[in-house]
Amino acid sequence: MGSERKICTMERELAMEFVRVTEAAALASARWWGRGDKNAADDAAVQAMRAMFDTVNIDGTIVIGEGEMDEAPMLYIGEKVGAGGNVQVDIAVDPLEGTNLIAKGLTGAIAVLAAAPKGCLLHAPDMYMEKIAAGRGTKGKINLDASVTENVKAVASCLNKGISDVTVVVLDRPRHKHIIDELREIGARIKLITDGDVSPAVATAIPGSGVDMVMGIGGAPEGVLAAAALRCLDGEFQGRLWPEDEKEAERAREMGIADLKKVLTIDDLVKGNDVIFTATGITDGEFLKGVRYYGDTVTTHTVVMRGATGTVRFIDAKHNIEKKPKYVRM
Ligand code: FBP
Repeated sequence: MGSERKICTMERELAMEFVRVTEAAALASARWWGRGDKNAADDAAVQAMRAMFDTVNIDGTIVIGEGEMDEAPMLYIGEKVGAGGNVQVDIAVDPLEGTNLIAKGLTGAIAVLAAAPKGCLLHAPDMYMEKIAAGRGTKGKINLDASVTENVKAVASCLNKGISDVTVVVLDRPRHKHIIDELREIGARIKLITDGDVSPAVATAIPGSGVDMVMGIGGAPEGVLAAAALRCLDGEFQGRLWPEDEKEAERAREMGIADLKKVLTIDDLVKGNDVIFTATGITDGEFLKGVRYYGDTVTTHTVVMRGATGTVRFIDAKHNIEKKPKYVRM
């Protein structure tokens, strides 16, 4: 039994280990706050996340990462991470979600990961996905194929409020004009964002965040990350791949998604409840504070959740930067 590989049950201690991983990425990339260099900020986050993974006792495989092996030097899809051991884990990462946000010092940039037993996370191709996300109590009440109005009405009714009280986050893109027009017509509150749709999707299920729904087309990898969090939080998420050309459609089929028109439910995106999600704020956001500097100390704010128990923890950490590894100090 000793050396046998475990397919299931991620030990709960892993949750804290993964907190260190997103903290490291946030600490490293926060140094690039407002400096206009999104690639440098991303590189810093990737290197720190990669190095911190090596301290975690897992046999991890990146299933959603920085791209294919020939595109990304680190955290590429299929890359093995972790110090080894007998717990086989699939991992979705976005070391810096919202590269433009950090480059411009705007709100909403996070370092994020989701981990689940091998085979439990959808291997989403790097393409667009139509998405709808909402919080607790909306399961089975919203539908990607329903109209904007029907979905807002459904969420309003679940939350026991009026349509004009519902706040919907939408990426500010020309492709979303019809969504924005319809939301304005029915009088819902709209928060247009320039980037970063994972954080608001998670926020829909965090009481007090001020976000009720997310609608529109964003990255498919980001969709899996949001679905992992919403699975832990008992929220609702649906997605449908949105390939831009035949090459992307072929890529999706190669990755095992035969029916591109299929509405992907949380169960399709994240199988089972044995999932851990962690995100650390880089800049301030709806429910996470960004990295803050106080001379010799730096603070981070992280949310970590486990689907197995539904426990959600917010961790305020104070770091002694002198004692941190170099890849975090930058
Ligand atoms: P990056 O972190 O890679 O810059 O992506 C940020 C993001 O805004 C995602 O949150 C979102 O899903 C996607 O890009 C939207 O894509 P696009 O900018 O092409 O509309």
